Amino acid sequence: MRNQLKISGALSALLLALGATAQASEALYQQHCSSCHGFSAEGIPGLAPPLAHSALWQGLGDQAPRYITGVMAGGMSGKLQSQGQLYIGLVMPPQSHLPAAELASVASYLLKLSGVDQDVSVEAVEQARSAPMSHGQLRALRPQNL
Ligand code: HEC
Repeated sequence: MRNQLKISGALSALLLALGATAQASEALYQQHCSSCHGFSAEGIPGLAPPLAHSALWQGLGDQAPRYITGVMAGGMSGKLQSQGQLYIGLVMPPQSHLPAAELASVASYLLKLSGVDQDVSVEAVEQARSAPMSHGQLRALRPQNL
């Protein structure tokens, strides 16, 4: 009985911790990305494309972490079409002012939000930063017309 209590105590602590992590990454998203990409990552037409975008992230498949870390590391520019909307003229600046751990957390949150169960590691963000992909290379990776 006592053991059972201990186990359920540990389990609720774990669940609380997991919940707290999800909340923290959502807060980080809202702090760092939502002013351009929308409060719920739904995009702001004419400003910045949606990041809650299942077709895009699932279309990228195992390249999803590479793409999202590449954009965070190097920014994005040029004409971009997303969910039928054209985004043109505005440049996304490289997110070099933010710690890699925060970007990894935001990236994992966004992929999960879009049904892609892949964690983006701090190392993946650091690697993207050490060898940034050009905007052209990022474009080539992105499935068109999604
Ligand atoms: C100052 C505004 C701004 C901020 C802040 C910003 N972005 Fe962006 N982002 C943009 C714009 C504008 C584009 C589209 C650029 C283009 O048209 O080529 C974009 C594009 C993207 C794309 C490519 C989307 C696609 O459909 O291919 C990703 C991924 C992305 N941003 C992630 C992020 C993340 C994650 C954050 C927060 C850490 C962030 N952005 C913060 C403006 C911003």
